Amino acid sequence: MQGFFASLRMTALTTTRLNMKHPGLFITLEGIDGTGKSTQIRGLVRHLRECGHRVRVTREPGGTPAGERIRAILLATSTGKLAPQAELALMYAARAQHLAEVVRPALARGEIVVSDRYNDASLAYQGYGRKLGTAGVRAFDRIVCGRTQPDLTIILDLDPGQALARAQGRETRRKSRRGRFEAQGLEFHQRVRAGYLAIARSAPGRAKVVRADQAVGEVQTAIRELVDECLARHLKSIRKRG
Ligand code: TYD
Repeated sequence: MQGFFASLRMTALTTTRLNMKHPGLFITLEGIDGTGKSTQIRGLVRHLRECGHRVRVTREPGGTPAGERIRAILLATSTGKLAPQAELALMYAARAQHLAEVVRPALARGEIVVSDRYNDASLAYQGYGRKLGTAGVRAFDRIVCGRTQPDLTIILDLDPGQALARAQGRETRRKSRRGRFEAQGLEFHQRVRAGYLAIARSAPGRAKVVRADQAVGEVQTAIRELVDECLARHLKSIRKRG
C-alpha cells in the first residue's frame, strides 16, 4: 500500500516536471573505494523506477565511449605514475564529454540522473588524496561543470581500513587485479575520506553522509529517505515557480 501511494506521489512529480519542461534531478553517489556504492546504486535505481521515474544511471570516470577510453588509462596499473595534474585533467576531460553526451541531455528531458561519482570525487581524490588542493580542482570545475552541479550527493562513509579490506575481498572473488587507485595505501584513502567529510561540512544542504558500516538494507533505507526528501523539495519548488 505504501508503495502504491509512493508511486502516485512520484507519478505526480514526473508529470509536473515534464509539463513545466523543468529539468530533472541530478543525484551523485560518492565514497572511498569499497563502501558498497554499486550495490546501493542498484537498489536506489530499482526504487526510483518502481516509483515511475525515468532514470539514467551512469558513472565516472566513463559513461561515454571516449570517457571509457580515458577511464582505462586512469585505472590501469600499466599506466604507471601520472602527474597529479595530468590525472585531474583526464578526469575533467572525461567529465566534459559525459556532461555533453549524457548528463545535460538527460536532465533537459526531465530524467533523474544517478551518477556513480562526479565532481566531488575530483575534490576528494585529486584535491585531498593527491594533495593538489581544492582551488585548482574548483578552477577546472568552473570551466567544465559550471552550473551543472548535483542536487543531492550521498557520501557513503566507512573507515578506510574496513573499506580496503572489502575492496580486496571483491577483487579476490572476481579474480581481478587492483587498479591504480585501489593500489594506493591506507594514508591516501584516509586523506580522501577526510576530503569527503570536509565537502559534507561545507555543503550540508546538498552533501549527506550515510554510514556504510550498517547492514546493506539499512544503508539503502537511509539513502531512499534522503532521495525522497530531495524529490519532495524539488516538486515544491517547481510548484512554487509554476
Ligand atoms: P571505480 O572502479 O569506478 O571505483 P569504485 O570502487 O567506486 O567502483 O574506479 C574509479 C576510481 O577513480 C576510484 O578509485 C576513484 C577514482 N576517481 C578519482 O580519483 N577522481 C575522480 O574525479 C573520479 C570520478 C574517480
